[in-house]
Amino acid sequence: MLTARYLLRALRFCSSAPCPRHKPSAKLSVRDALRAQNPSGERVKVQAFPIKYKERHPLEYMRQYPHLRCRTNVLSSILRVRSEATAAIHSFFKDSGFVHIHTPIITSNDCEGAGELFQVEPSSKIKLPEENFFNVPAFLTVSGQLHLEVMSGAFTQVFTFGPTFRAENSQTRRHLAEFYMVEAEISFVKSLQDLMQVMEELFKATTVTVLSNCPEDVELCHKFIAPGQKDRLEHMLKNNFLIISYTEAVEILKQASQNFTFTPEWGIDLQTEHEKYLLKHCGNIPVFIINYPLALKPFYMRDNEDGPQHTVAAVDLLVPGVGELFGGSLREERYHVLEQRLARLGLKEAYQWYLDLRQFGSVPHGGFGMGFERYLQCILGVENIKDVIPFPRFTHSCLL
Ligand code: 4AD
Ligand code: MG
Repeated sequence: MLTARYLLRALRFCSSAPCPRHKPSAKLSVRDALRAQNPSGERVKVQAFPIKYKERHPLEYMRQYPHLRCRTNVLSSILRVRSEATAAIHSFFKDSGFVHIHTPIITSNDCEGAGELFQVEPSSKIKLPEENFFNVPAFLTVSGQLHLEVMSGAFTQVFTFGPTFRAENSQTRRHLAEFYMVEAEISFVKSLQDLMQVMEELFKATTVTVLSNCPEDVELCHKFIAPGQKDRLEHMLKNNFLIISYTEAVEILKQASQNFTFTPEWGIDLQTEHEKYLLKHCGNIPVFIINYPLALKPFYMRDNEDGPQHTVAAVDLLVPGVGELFGGSLREERYHVLEQRLARLGLKEAYQWYLDLRQFGSVPHGGFGMGFERYLQCILGVENIKDVIPFPRFTHSCLL
């Protein structure tokens, strides 16, 4: 049934307006341009354009020219796909009855509790009797989840899609200091199964729409930067995503003949090398890993009340070539369980409003977040996350 729906969507989108290809609107010779700039006839020094016509420059080379690289074939194709995927995500949620919420960019909470926050203060010392501009320490958001939880109590199904900031010192090919996250929050969700269904549908429906609206742009990326990606993507789309528990994943890793830098052990976080192995083990089909150790996850995740290996109802989706693409969970909706957890962490006072949500009418609910740049990397086969965002921001770099 799912497949038929995607086909219908694809057909519908095929007939709608395709992705706008770049069409030159006017011609101008270099001589004309110089004359236009310099009517006095004075000689003008022309700086060599750093991107050579018909030469294939590595993406890494072009990264030093964020103001020019969007004029190249590959970057413009990637950015058109990005634009189309943004629209497809909004359509998916709209068609599924979700309400779009603008969650704040400046916030006073640390949703993930990982302390990877950028603090927000005025750049110049303006005269304020209080220590902080907002009276309390304020930060750029690391996730809109807690604000979405507020809204899910009113609208049942909500989503947000906006910039997210993390001050992690990760110099990897899949981390940025500023990235876009697609987040959804759904009331009356009783099991991880319900959440995983929405995650898989979001991934597949968005991809099918992008493939049918931007075939030339996707093909160009697949051809020039990721040969073989078309087949890998088809493989992901035609198979049902797999599900294994964290405990099973650790067992699989322990039995592997491969030597890992980080020895797999129940209670430690899955590392990139572990994610890679698990994906290969699963035949390169995206795989949901569920029920992680309580100690590894943030305070808001629902306690599975199991033991002695104590877990929470968390879910991550791993995809080939990228690793973790989605992170989500059922939320702890039980007042007393949440209250005890917050008290243990010394957070009860700061999160009184979050406890109020449970006190004044609470329902089982859950949600997830998908890294938008990682999604683009996954469908296009782009190795480095810095090449799927127009202006990448990362440690030691904020060009333009
Ligand atoms: O797993 P994360 O940290 O989950 C949350 O923030 C939840 N509060 C979301 C929710 O339930 N509403 O982040 C979600 C996803 C990750 O799986 C990853 O794809 C992406 O966001 N992500 C990053 N992408 C690029 N650069 C970074 N530094 C990222 N950190 C996370
Ligand atoms: Mg995560």
